[in-house]
Amino acid sequence: MNTLVLKVDPDKPDAAKIEVAAQIIKRGGLVAFPTETVYGLGADALNGEAVLRLFEAKKRPLDNPPILHVAEVRDVYPLVAEVSQKAEQLMKQFWPGPLTVVFKHSAIVPKESTAGLDTVAIRMPKHPVAAALIRQSKRPIAAPSANLSGKPSPTTAQHVYEDLNGRIDAIIDGGAADIGVESTVVDLSCDPPLLLRPGGTPFEALKAVLGDLQLHPFVQAESEIPVEKARSPGMMHKHYAPKAQVMIVEGNVEAVIGKIKQLAAEYKEKNAKVAVLATDETQAAYRAYVVRSMGSRHNLSTVASSLFRLLREVDAEGVDVILAESVPQEGIGLAVMNRLRKASGYHIIKA
Ligand code: TXA
Ligand code: MG
Repeated sequence: MNTLVLKVDPDKPDAAKIEVAAQIIKRGGLVAFPTETVYGLGADALNGEAVLRLFEAKKRPLDNPPILHVAEVRDVYPLVAEVSQKAEQLMKQFWPGPLTVVFKHSAIVPKESTAGLDTVAIRMPKHPVAAALIRQSKRPIAAPSANLSGKPSPTTAQHVYEDLNGRIDAIIDGGAADIGVESTVVDLSCDPPLLLRPGGTPFEALKAVLGDLQLHPFVQAESEIPVEKARSPGMMHKHYAPKAQVMIVEGNVEAVIGKIKQLAAEYKEKNAKVAVLATDETQAAYRAYVVRSMGSRHNLSTVASSLFRLLREVDAEGVDVILAESVPQEGIGLAVMNRLRKASGYHIIKA
């Protein structure tokens, strides 16, 4: 399959190019597109066969359903059994934006879009390209992140191309994704509501609106969760993992720096190529084969927006070991730590 690349202005996408992509979606094809979080791989959510092709292209396990993307709040109603008052509040406050809400689904949603669950995950992206594509396709778009299953989520069209060239119909290139980690997933099909995946919308902001909001234990898990406890299928799957062994060193900053220096020296002694993922404030402390800053400790959104790109870039340098600093689990830091821990396969070292 030849993958078409459509380059657009992220703020004012060319309507003719969006129309080409919308036609592909309407006839059951696959189009990768930018959102404000990460790139998504889209298919017509109401066409079960098209959604199955998504799983094939990504080599994604069939038990892990995609998120359905809509362009208007009113497009949610036909897809769900009921919209609670809490759901209305969240949609009003946080949409369009990096928040996914889990509802009980209606009969029109094909089983391929829910992996046979009685719920469906829905979000309304803010990115003008995503919004334009959904509008012009005139249907909800099922879109998991546009990476091969298990790889870090793509934050540029180039990342999508590396993983999926030849496996999908088209990529809309709208530049780099802003936020850099995926949407926050909140389950409103249970009481009290449950945060299943931390992401671009902070837990603290959601709790302020909902009052009672529980963190699923997995969100801050320090080891792999038993299958029977997973409420979101994505919790069980290995994720974001580069080829190199990632280790995350947790503790207060001074102790973390000391421990990483010690580990870097030990691995160098064994002739291993070491990369250190540091922060703006700490990177000068290290000597290693590769030292990169993830961003500033005083602005964790800079860390979020570079994390997946850095995991790909450092891996491409052919290192054996990646030693990553931890950051505080506040605001978007909760999502950053969740992704880093998953990328490390829960190889966590306490400093
Ligand atoms: O920011 C995002 O959310 C990006 C962009 C493209 O919108 N999408 C994304 O999709 O990250 P994906 O497929 O990589 O992750 C979807 C997550 C998975 O963890 C999946 O298990 C969960 O949402 N999910 C989907 N349907 C669900 C459901 N009915 N109940 C619970 N979790 C669900
Ligand atoms: Mg994903």
